[in-house]
Amino acid sequence: MVSLSLLSVLTVLSTSHPDDFVYQFRGQCYYRNGTEDIQLLKRWFYNREEYVYFDSDRGIYIAKTELGRPDAKYWNSQPDVLAEARAAVDRVCRHNYQIYKPAAIDRKSEPRIKIIYAQATDQEYEEILTCFVGSFFPPMIKVTWLKNGVEESEKVTSTELLNDGDWTYQIHVNLETTIQHGDVFTCRVEHSSLTAPAKVQWKPETSDSARSKMLTGIVGFVLGLVFFIIGLLVYLRNTKGIRFLPVTQNNPIS
Ligand SMILES: *[C@@H]1O[C@H](CO)[C@@H](O)[C@H](O)[C@H]1NC(C)=O
Repeated sequence: MVSLSLLSVLTVLSTSHPDDFVYQFRGQCYYRNGTEDIQLLKRWFYNREEYVYFDSDRGIYIAKTELGRPDAKYWNSQPDVLAEARAAVDRVCRHNYQIYKPAAIDRKSEPRIKIIYAQATDQEYEEILTCFVGSFFPPMIKVTWLKNGVEESEKVTSTELLNDGDWTYQIHVNLETTIQHGDVFTCRVEHSSLTAPAKVQWKPETSDSARSKMLTGIVGFVLGLVFFIIGLLVYLRNTKGIRFLPVTQNNPIS
């Protein structure tokens, strides 16, 4: 494969003398059902343009541009070249599957889930909850927003699946909504690394600052109530004294 590629480079160079050029070969194995159904593509590119490829589904070399026509014609006329390419499905793809299986195909990484609240800036009444789902592999995932147990679908937007480049992926799913006291929001994640869907809840006023504000309010209220009762008692005792004093004074007389 490599030696054939190098020959092609020399041919191209001798005809068109560019200052710089990019020459690429790409071998791609598609495992459509484990090792039961494999497609092999061998692709050649000159300055990023593909000019000829071999497709194991068709079993021949196919020219993509004028540049690839002589190669395809020559390779297809050589029974040993064709046989080598056709055998590569087994020799390269099926063989490599066993090597990569433990690291790549069997790899499972559980998603990490976090909910972030943000007040929307462009709309007055809407607020945004974002479910950050990261660190997962394989990339296939399903993220759902639920409000009080009911699936939300209308105002849900999502980023593309983001490849972190370290065999993990992440995705951010936004829910535009209105939040009232007592609402419960749930971000539900379904992934092949999980035996059951993962659920993370978010409720308004559950933050520490909200809780300390509420505590301050309660303490203030109780203190106020205590002083009010003390004041009321003092007031009642005073009025009692004033009102009933004449009565007790009159008793011995009558
Ligand atoms: C995948 O291959 C298995 C045999 O290993 C077969 O039973 C199954 O039907 C195939 N699935 C599809 C979708 O072709």
